[in-house]
Amino acid sequence: MNQKRVLIIFYSFSSQTRNLLNGLTKGLEEGGVVVQCEQLKPFIPPHFPVGSYWGALEMMLSAFFKRRIAIEPPDSRWYVAWDLVICAGPTWSYHPSGPMLSFLDTYAVEMLKGQYVLPFISCRSYWRLHHWELKRALRDADIKFLKPQVFFHPSPGAWCALGVFLKLAGRIPNVWRSLLQNYCPRYGHSPHQIEEARSLGRSLADKLREGRLHGEQLL
Ligand SMILES: Cc1cc2nc3c(=O)[nH]c(=O)nc-3n(C[C@H](O)[C@H](O)[C@H](O)COP(=O)(O)O)c2cc1C
Repeated sequence: MNQKRVLIIFYSFSSQTRNLLNGLTKGLEEGGVVVQCEQLKPFIPPHFPVGSYWGALEMMLSAFFKRRIAIEPPDSRWYVAWDLVICAGPTWSYHPSGPMLSFLDTYAVEMLKGQYVLPFISCRSYWRLHHWELKRALRDADIKFLKPQVFFHPSPGAWCALGVFLKLAGRIPNVWRSLLQNYCPRYGHSPHQIEEARSLGRSLADKLREGRLHGEQLL
């Protein structure tokens, strides 16, 4: 039986998607799948943390207006048929991230044409518009989309939003420090979620091996 091959195309700014993907990849490989993991590479990578409140605000605003962040052309070896392509990244101001928008504009239709694609999203809590835009950008590519996998930061709502903003700015004023420690003790995903991603990887590997993935989870 031939080995299943999965391509993971991703962007990660503050390593949250990357941490989840490490778990996912482990699970897939434990299930005997060959995984090729490729990060989108901006020509001018944005720096994390941004370093100022104003810089963080500016980044959120330009993400809201869907400013593209130009990326290097993807490796030509990606343009082949895969058993599954996982398209992964964070939500930025309700949309896909700037590098992912560039990928969708320029390369994705040709590369993903006719493939099975699993959207994989890391976010604080809002992901639906991001997912819809991803699918819309690929509407002419005859893609078979699988059910999206969405991972939320586990800290509660408003505290999590504040935590993301301050982490992005890279500055936490002393007055907020102890409050944040109580209500948003960590930024991003928990070790438990990384383990969940690993279980997801194992279950995807089983489904791929048994030929169940391609019939069952289509949207
Ligand atoms: C510029 C920017 C805008 C963001 N906007 C949203 C948003 O609209 N909704 C949301 O749920 N999370 C939002 N987030 C939080 C990220 O989606 C979240 O922190 C994610 O886990 C980051 O993944 P990464 O480290 O792989 O980039 C935003 C983060 C950044 C940097």
